Amino acid sequence: MSLVEIENVHKSYGDIEVLRGVSLRIEEGEIVAIIGRSGSGKSTLLRCINGLEPIQSGTIRFDGQQVNSADTDLRKLRQKVGIVFQSFNLFPHLNAERNITLGLTVVKKMPPDEARTIARKVMTQVGLEDKLDAYPDMLSGGQQQRVAIARSLAMSPKLMLFDEITSALDPELIGEVLTVLAGLAEAGMTMMLVTHEMGFARNVAHRLVFMHEGEIWESGAARAVLDDPQTPELKSFLGSVLI
Ligand SMILES: Nc1ncnc2c1ncn2[C@@H]1O[C@H](COP(=O)(O)OP(=O)(O)OP(=O)(O)O)[C@@H](O)[C@H]1O
Ligand SMILES: [Mg+2]
Repeated sequence: MSLVEIENVHKSYGDIEVLRGVSLRIEEGEIVAIIGRSGSGKSTLLRCINGLEPIQSGTIRFDGQQVNSADTDLRKLRQKVGIVFQSFNLFPHLNAERNITLGLTVVKKMPPDEARTIARKVMTQVGLEDKLDAYPDMLSGGQQQRVAIARSLAMSPKLMLFDEITSALDPELIGEVLTVLAGLAEAGMTMMLVTHEMGFARNVAHRLVFMHEGEIWESGAARAVLDDPQTPELKSFLGSVLI
């Protein structure tokens, strides 16, 4: 059994089909980068895996459990599948520690002391152990994004989904966030990430998936896909992004 099993998923918004028969399996410990043009369905795919979007047909299984089923407890599922977006969505009126402990004490009903210990641990993991007391507006964009990652990690997810998490950052702040991701990769976290950072995809991802018009157009070992694109669509896409 693979950790994620996506089979022939179709997803529409009204009359527009945005996922047209997507199938993909992800093994535990695997790092999969998803690339593709705007509107190709990358974010939609991540949101479907996390149960944030219903699908019209096909199946998505996570850790043996069907995501798109009426019996599935999506709250429980989302504790095991973390998702981080381009916008950090931290609570502005709570400091970093409280942003992290909130989910633990409210959703997981963890005692506050235990939650604070975890907050310290995950903030250390993202290199911000000295910023536990800082409010979001006292932090740089890169630091806020690292707190958002720490908040997800606090739930001990088995899978992390990252949707263009460096896209809103100034160029000089991108590196520190990618360093955190590389650390997670080294620690063996299973990850799917939508990214425009081709250098990062090449060096860190095991597998690269190129989406085009709602389909997986090409996929394979990251370097092979980048160095030897098989279709005109991927060639043209790679020509339009910085590598
Ligand atoms: N909530 C929604 N309602 C209607 N259409 C939507 C919705 N979300 C996405 N879409 C449409 O679905 C298609 C795929 O969108 P998606 O956000 O998955 O693309 P993407 O590959 O992530 O693009 P980008 O690189 O711009 O983030 C687009 O045509 C988009 O307009
Ligand atoms: Mg997107």
